[in-house]
Amino acid sequence: MNSILQELISSFSSSQRHNVMKVLVACEYSGIVRDAFIKRGHQAISCDLIPTEYAGPHYQGDVRDLLNEDWDLMIAHPPCTYLTISGARWFKGREKQQQDALNFIRLLMESPIPRIAIENPIGVISTRIRKPDQIIQPWMFGHGETKATCLWLKNLPTLKPTKIVSGRVPKVHYAAPGPNRAKIRSLTYSGIAKAMAKQWGYLESLSETRNTSTNPSDRFDSQAHADYGLSRFRRLYRSTGAWV
Ligand SMILES: C[S@@+](CC[C@H](N)C(=O)[O-])C[C@H]1O[C@@H](n2cnc3c(N)ncnc32)[C@H](O)[C@@H]1O
Repeated sequence: MNSILQELISSFSSSQRHNVMKVLVACEYSGIVRDAFIKRGHQAISCDLIPTEYAGPHYQGDVRDLLNEDWDLMIAHPPCTYLTISGARWFKGREKQQQDALNFIRLLMESPIPRIAIENPIGVISTRIRKPDQIIQPWMFGHGETKATCLWLKNLPTLKPTKIVSGRVPKVHYAAPGPNRAKIRSLTYSGIAKAMAKQWGYLESLSETRNTSTNPSDRFDSQAHADYGLSRFRRLYRSTGAWV
């Protein structure tokens, strides 16, 4: 039995005891954010058009298939190719692709999930949709590098820096040319993923179907809701092939 599966099973058995969130990590093949939430006992699944790089619950397909499931939180890393400032010289003649990319962002922002974070570099989302709620840097989370990353948040607090370090190397810009360059540059920093899981993983449920008692021992303790949520999740995991 692999360790991810063991973590999943232990997260299920503890779901009656503490606030377990159902987390969709959209547009993620690395599993970095997904696994940070699973390590903290949450039920997280990544979704990308391409396979996951590390074994774990992953839906290979279009995230639009999953947006109406019963999630507590979505963290999305949509493609930035047609949206970034650094890609501005490419925009001419690619207006249609840029419009499609913006429509995808709007769809994610407006999906019926109680808490949402959308991550993207500085770019046209700020002027065409709205300004981000926060701009973070890897050096705020233990990595001595620069890469300005915007966060658009719904019902989430801004992320607090966890470990400010002195390095300021724009390392991702010097990634060696090659077929994996874009992939390497798009990876989420592990320190940021851990901060998301720690700071966003213990928020009150906003789902109307959840038990809203203020007594912590009653919270999320509704057997019917837990069974319902778990059976949906198990179906989803099975459909991804991860539940084997
Ligand atoms: C900028 S990368 C994000 C990588 C991410 N930070 C990680 O660590 O895996 C954007 C990803 O979005 C995926 N993607 C694009 N359109 C998608 C869709 N409709 N549904 C799911 N994933 C999609 C791409 O395949 C690509 O891997």
